[in-house]
Amino acid sequence: MNVVVLSGAGMSAESGIKTFRDAGGLWEGHNVMDVASPEGWARNPELVTEFYNQRRVQLGEVQPNAGHLALKDLEENFHTVIITQNVDDLHERAGSSNIIHLHGELIKVRSTEFEHDIFELGYQSMAYGDKCPKGTILRPHIVWFGEEVPLIETAIKLVEKADILIIVGTSLEVYPAAGLLYHAPRHCRIYLVDPNRHEDISIRNLELIRDTAARALPELVRKLKMNKG
Ligand code: APR
Repeated sequence: MNVVVLSGAGMSAESGIKTFRDAGGLWEGHNVMDVASPEGWARNPELVTEFYNQRRVQLGEVQPNAGHLALKDLEENFHTVIITQNVDDLHERAGSSNIIHLHGELIKVRSTEFEHDIFELGYQSMAYGDKCPKGTILRPHIVWFGEEVPLIETAIKLVEKADILIIVGTSLEVYPAAGLLYHAPRHCRIYLVDPNRHEDISIRNLELIRDTAARALPELVRKLKMNKG
């Protein structure tokens, strides 16, 4: 039984990290395009660097919630892969081991010239102008709006093999991630966990659970374990 989880910002909301779209187009007081686009970086790299410095420090101060921990429990009972749009490391810190970060990772930086030269920074700050060992300027290891999502093909292949797909805490507004659910095979059961979802998505085998990640996931995992027999 293959279980695939697709998580988004709502997954970490109960840990104290704000979601994007719930904040009314502003992300911690900034226009998203100023801090999360190649154009924003070109215009004001100091601002972008400082923005991610603050996010990184904040990340060091928060903890995984009961939803993250439930997914670790899931992994102990099913073959589980987490495809996350989140750049935090709360799935890792909850103990999950099979995680794909579609949109990059906050605790890493990479070379602006050699995209595969990625470095672990942890919860520290960087300064704009810091260089990699080859002498190129470093940037946050984040997939910004308008940039390619290098891991999307890997993610599609995983969803194509899913028996159970759990979608949690994502508005499903940002592509290509939002299109992943359409790659689920016919027999796949899909659970959508979101406390604010009103409209139903017309997808076969989809069950909407209108509750938060920290409340709904422990219950859902308990149910899946019971039905496993
Ligand atoms: N539990 C579950 N879901 C929640 C919770 C919660 N406690 N709180 C809010 N949500 C839901 C919201 O109702 C919303 O549908 O989580 C969703 C968050 O949506 P977005 O803020 O749009 O986050 P996400 O879908 O992850 O955004 C996708 O957009 O800004 C870019 O690259 C960034 O990865 C991000 C991408």
